[in-house]
Amino acid sequence: MSDNVVWHQHQVSHDDRCKQKSQRPCVLWFTGLSGSGKSTVANAVESLLFQNQNHSYLLDGDNVRHGLNKDLNFSDEDRVENIRRIGEVSKLFADSGLIVLSAFISPFRSDRQQVKDLLPSGQFIEVFVDTPLEVCEQRDPKGLYKKARAGDIKDFTGLDSPYESPLEPDVHLKAGDKPVEVLAQEVVDYLVDKGFVK
Ligand code: PPS
Repeated sequence: MSDNVVWHQHQVSHDDRCKQKSQRPCVLWFTGLSGSGKSTVANAVESLLFQNQNHSYLLDGDNVRHGLNKDLNFSDEDRVENIRRIGEVSKLFADSGLIVLSAFISPFRSDRQQVKDLLPSGQFIEVFVDTPLEVCEQRDPKGLYKKARAGDIKDFTGLDSPYESPLEPDVHLKAGDKPVEVLAQEVVDYLVDKGFVK
């Protein structure tokens, strides 16, 4: 960054926006394998929040890779940059007062930690969508595991690219054996319990 770039203080503060919305912003960071159910659960959580008059925004891997991150692929280096950018976007949205739902494989612990460190203390909520690889591969909703096994996709998470599970997630969803409604409610219960929403 150039030395000639200076930070502007805005007149309407983060606290002002939070008071007006009567919710505490946060970033729900859904991490898990491809096909684990990250987007499905995040969508169901967002619907519950919407019904509860909360204001949220959902960011997910496939969609963001169509625009902001369309220059990135699936090498380790590109995944790191993908998560770095999403972290910055999530921070801006949370600063605007929103409950942000970010659903990305985000396979590396250090990248998830970097996003946590970027945000104000307590705003990062790690949600581990814990579905065993065998179940994800069996579901294979986009046929990607099949292609990866056939050698048509390289660096596929869980096969020839690593996934580092969270060690102490804030919310641990056993997503292989529970219906989506139950999983979504677990996340909302956490938000209520911690005072992010009423
Ligand atoms: S990452 O690892 O966080 O940068 O990935 P993300 O941005 O979440 O994108 C994951 C979606 O991209 C599709 N896809 C792949 N996933 C994993 N590995 C490889 N090589 C790959 N190629 C394409 C896949 O549809 C992922 O979506 P989900 O919803 O996770 O299944």
